[in-house]
Amino acid sequence: MARRARSLTLGVLVLVLAGANSSLVAKPRVPEPGSAKSPVGEAIYLKGVLGSGAPLTATRAGAEPVTGEQAACVNCHRRSGLGSQEARSSFPPVTGQFLFHPQTGGAELPFIPGARLKRQPYTDSTLARAIREGVDAEGRPISYLMPRFALDDTDMSALIAHLRSLDHNKVPGVSMSELHFASIITPDADPVKRRGMMDVLEHFFQDRNAAPRGASGQQMITSGATDSVRSMFKVNRRWVLHVWELTGPSATWAEQLDKKFAETPVFAVISGIAGKNWVPVTDFCERREVPCLFPNVELPAADADHTFHTLYCSRGVLLEADLITAGILNEPAGGNPKRVRVVYRAGDIGEAATVSLTAQLRARGVGVVTRVVPRGAPAKAVTEAKQI
Ligand code: HEC
Repeated sequence: MARRARSLTLGVLVLVLAGANSSLVAKPRVPEPGSAKSPVGEAIYLKGVLGSGAPLTATRAGAEPVTGEQAACVNCHRRSGLGSQEARSSFPPVTGQFLFHPQTGGAELPFIPGARLKRQPYTDSTLARAIREGVDAEGRPISYLMPRFALDDTDMSALIAHLRSLDHNKVPGVSMSELHFASIITPDADPVKRRGMMDVLEHFFQDRNAAPRGASGQQMITSGATDSVRSMFKVNRRWVLHVWELTGPSATWAEQLDKKFAETPVFAVISGIAGKNWVPVTDFCERREVPCLFPNVELPAADADHTFHTLYCSRGVLLEADLITAGILNEPAGGNPKRVRVVYRAGDIGEAATVSLTAQLRARGVGVVTRVVPRGAPAKAVTEAKQI
């Protein structure tokens, strides 16, 4: 099963790479000097938690108030603050540069559908009024789709500081002519699988660069119906792949990754391969806010469902544990086992899978006996453990 998951990982790689290009517009990440991060503002925006630790409350005429995570701005304006459009509703961008831009039409801003580029710029106090009372910079009512939030002054300043900090003009690893990626390889990765992965990646990058689609910098020709057309340019970047080989014990990987990132900033970490431990790489990607796309790992970090920047192709052995559980529980009537024996090797990826499998089976009333094969014991020890 593990092997099937792995070949799938390689199989979809091309899709991922093709998709990465289109996310370029909306991936600003490196804060500009001066736009200090506000942890309180960030918690209000992302989690709906106020500075006091109390939940944020969103109220709306004619509806029950919602609180906490459900009230958080991120639900509608997205993590980037660039908003979204859904059917006929528009959730406008709320980063500093869109809220405070002078009335120039916004040609210098990235193109975001739904951006309100024609109204007067907000000031901190009209912005606070918008968030509290639902009135825009020009005194016009904001639609009922935008809830009202009764924030005190301290929370409000923190939130506005967060909106300002969402502006980033410099994205790492991107220039007008190049787009840099890194593939990370941990020292205990299987050399054969590693060669297979690199072969696919290198060929993909070569193919991609061999067929450039037009010169960079040309202005897009559009209907001219919106102001934003002036900010649309065709960009064709050469994709550059860096291979970051980690060495030594995993406790030193964070420092190695920070050093490599400082020397060669990359737009995203792509594919990559690990032996047993990918956690330091996930931590690096979350901390640096670098997308980490589809690493070849059989044991994702335990909080894989909650990471934002890391996208796994599969939950690896934890998914297998779920499937095995489902398989056992769905056996035809009468064939339901009362007891299952699980054999795993100490210190290997099966250990985490065993913990998950055992918990799930026991919760459904199936007894589980575990047999541990010592780390480094020969393969026949596994066969023997099955028979005891
Ligand atoms: C349930 C969805 C939702 C949530 C949650 C939400 N908003 Fe909005 N917001 C909207 C919509 C929709 C609009 C546009 C309303 C309109 O068209 O008049 C909007 C408009 C705004 C505007 C006006 C933008 C402009 O350019 O005039 C600001 C500022 C804003 N929201 C900030 C926030 C902040 C800060 C939070 C969190 C405290 C938040 N919003 C939470 C839906 C939401």
